[in-house]
Amino acid sequence: MSKEVTFTAKPGGKLHGRLRVPGDKSISHRSIIFGSIAGGITRVGGFLEGEDSLNTLNAFRAMGVEISDPIAGHLTITGAGKTGLQKPEGPLYLGNSGTSMRLLAGLLAAQPFDSVLEGDASLNKRPMNRVIEPLTKMGADISSNNGCAPLHIKGNPELRGIDYTLPVASAQVKSCLLLAGIYAEGETAITEPVLTRDHTERMLQSFGYPLEFNINRISLEGGGRLKANNVEVPGDISSAAFFMVGASISGESGLVLEQVGVNPTRTGVIDILRLMGAEIDLTNRGMVGGEPVADIYIRPAKLQGIQIPERLVPLAIDEFPVLFIAAACAEGTTVLTGAAELRVKESDRIQAMADGLQALGINAQTTDDGMVIEGGQLQGGEVDSHGDHRIAMAFSIAGLQADDEIRIKDCANVSTSFPTFVKLAAKAGLTVAVS
Ligand code: S3P
Repeated sequence: MSKEVTFTAKPGGKLHGRLRVPGDKSISHRSIIFGSIAGGITRVGGFLEGEDSLNTLNAFRAMGVEISDPIAGHLTITGAGKTGLQKPEGPLYLGNSGTSMRLLAGLLAAQPFDSVLEGDASLNKRPMNRVIEPLTKMGADISSNNGCAPLHIKGNPELRGIDYTLPVASAQVKSCLLLAGIYAEGETAITEPVLTRDHTERMLQSFGYPLEFNINRISLEGGGRLKANNVEVPGDISSAAFFMVGASISGESGLVLEQVGVNPTRTGVIDILRLMGAEIDLTNRGMVGGEPVADIYIRPAKLQGIQIPERLVPLAIDEFPVLFIAAACAEGTTVLTGAAELRVKESDRIQAMADGLQALGINAQTTDDGMVIEGGQLQGGEVDSHGDHRIAMAFSIAGLQADDEIRIKDCANVSTSFPTFVKLAAKAGLTVAVS
């Protein structure tokens, strides 16, 4: 049981200056996974030293892969090759990390050894049938606790490719099946009705694995190999999002977030904030390790409530907690629909955010698949993050516009994705006391 951590966000700060947020969590996980099953040495820079990506790293060490300790985001992986993973001695503990569990389920289903995947109390409640069902169609043998972890995986090196249409918009499910597919016989094809983040596709190709794309269908042939490749991880737009909202609702001269990943499958937060009237410019654009990056420049702006377009939901799926804070500070009503997935994240993010906003005097009404928020004046008060890192950070940002302190309970898990959040917030002008 981790130590109880409370954040107290002080009211009235103004964000300004230049910040560099830590490395992208999704890409950090994938750098360890692909580097471990590639042949040769992979060097990674900008790796996120957060608990989630470190849990992935430790899982591969437990399967015999030599990975150096990360130092300032740099690490070296001595790839074991596609068939070089070893049976771990005990269950693989993946903490709070849904990405680790769903991606590893695909990889481990295809190994010649059995394995067990388990997580913390939150992860052990999250739905895993979305990966178990298609993997079973490929010939995998996975038993679960009523569709939840722990997952007991009986390795089967003779999986068969499938042609699968994703029933939920999920990059984790897509990536899980692509990982199983590189071990399977024949073609694995995935059709995604709604676009989701494509880091797996980009990184597989940069490790020399051929993929085919046909509109929204991605396919690969099993049996290929991966060649080691150096990976430079861009800044995480999901971490940058807290400061994008903060600088919009309470900026001074403007805030620059340096070299953030702006992959178009992740920039829904920028599109939504711009629709609300935010002043955001992208400058200094480049490519880092096959991923687009840019400096994000945010100036303070008066935000308006909007109806959030549903097509943007998967492209901003992790940013809704802080977008709800933007909505609370906007003039008028913001309506979100088509976002039922938020109920099965690290917490039920629709309920947890509505409860917290109401505790701070904002009219926020939940619906099955979204929320209706009336902009207003945030008051001080106490909210519960339910151990969800993004809810803890979202309510910290709310402090900028609140008329008194906001106490946020259960914040230890901020270290899963953004261990330097409080320090960077202070650098930019938001004081968060930790107790
Ligand atoms: C992720 C995909 C998303 C996202 C998660 C990271 C990934 O989950 O919420 O934080 O790295 O593939 P879903 O695929 O379940 O939408």
